[in-house]
Amino acid sequence: MSSKIAVVTGASSGIGLLSAVELAKDGFFIVATMRDPGRRQHLDETAKAAGVQDKIEVRQLDITQFASLPQSVAGIVRDHQRIDVLLNNAGFAMSGFAEDMHLEEIRQQFETNFFGHVVMTQAVLPVMRKQRSGHIIMVSSISGLVGQPVVSSYSASKFALEGWSEVLRIETHSLGIRVVLVEPGAFKTDIWDRNVRIGAFALTPESPNHERARRFAQWVQKDVHKRDAREVARLVARIACDPNPSLRYRIGRDATVQYWLRKLIPWKTYEKMVAKAVQID
Ligand SMILES: NC(=O)c1ccc[n+]([C@@H]2O[C@H](COP(=O)([O-])OP(=O)(O)OC[C@H]3O[C@@H](n4cnc5c(N)ncnc54)[C@H](OP(=O)(O)O)[C@@H]3O)[C@@H](O)[C@H]2O)c1
Repeated sequence: MSSKIAVVTGASSGIGLLSAVELAKDGFFIVATMRDPGRRQHLDETAKAAGVQDKIEVRQLDITQFASLPQSVAGIVRDHQRIDVLLNNAGFAMSGFAEDMHLEEIRQQFETNFFGHVVMTQAVLPVMRKQRSGHIIMVSSISGLVGQPVVSSYSASKFALEGWSEVLRIETHSLGIRVVLVEPGAFKTDIWDRNVRIGAFALTPESPNHERARRFAQWVQKDVHKRDAREVARLVARIACDPNPSLRYRIGRDATVQYWLRKLIPWKTYEKMVAKAVQID
C-alpha cells in the first residue's frame, strides 16, 4: 500500500519542521509547505540525519495567501491522490500590551493564526469527506485556554482556533474526520527569537507601558524555561497514527500547571499572582 500523505504548514522551522520528520519516520509521505522554500535547508539536513529525506517534498505555501490555498491543495491531491493528515502549524506571536497594539497588527495575527488555518482546513475537507477519513491537527497553545499577558492578540487568535476546532470536531466526526488540538507550553523554537514580532508602538518610549514591557521581555528571556520541541513533534506523530484521538492534548509541565492554576484558584487571586510572576504588576 502506498504511504499515507501528511501536509504540514510552516515546515521551515520549529514544531512544523520536527513534526514533518517524525511523521516521515512513522511512515507518512510528507508535503512540507513553507512560505519561502529558500529556507528548506534545515529541514533537508534534519530529514537526512533521520534517514527520511526521500519521504519529504517541499512546496511553497503562505497560509495568508487565502485565494491560492484551494489551488495548492488541488495540486497536492492531483499528485498524491489523497490527504490523510493536515497539520495546521504555521504561526507567530505578536507581543505588546493590549493598549498599544494597532488594529492592523491584531488583524495580521488573526490572518495567520486563525483565518489561514480556517481556509486551509476548508480546502482539505472535501478531500477527507470523499475519503471518509483524515486527521486535522491544529497546533494551538496553552495560550488558547489561558490568557497570557503581553500577547493578547496571540491568545485571542488561539482562543478563536480552539472554539472553531471544537465545533468542527463535532460537525465532521461522523464523516470519519478527526479534529485535534495540540496545546503546547513553552518549547524552544524560532518563535522566541528569529520570529519574534513586537507591536510598533509597544517598542517606542512613548508607550505608557514601555517600562513594564521591558521588565516582561527580560523575564521571558531569563525565566521562561523552553523544552525540546521534539516532544511536541512526537506527540503530533502519535496523534496522526491514532485512529481515534481525543480532542485536546496539552503538552509541557508549564502548560499543565497554568491550566490547573487557572481552573482551581479564584480569579482575583490568580490575576494578582500572574501579574507578579511575569513582572508587570
Ligand atoms: N514554541 C512554542 O513555545 C509554542 C508554544 C505553543 C504553541 N506554539 C505554536 O506552534 C506553532 C509553530 O511555531 P514554532 O514554535 O515552531 O515557531 P517557529 O519556529 O517560529 O515556526 C513558525 C513557522 O510558521 C511559519 N509561518 C509563519 N507565518 C506563515 C505564513 N503566513 N505562511 C506559512 N508559514 C508561516 C514560519 O515560516 P518562516 O520560516 O517563513 O518564518 C515557521 O516555519 C505556532 O502555531 C505556534 O503558535 C509554539
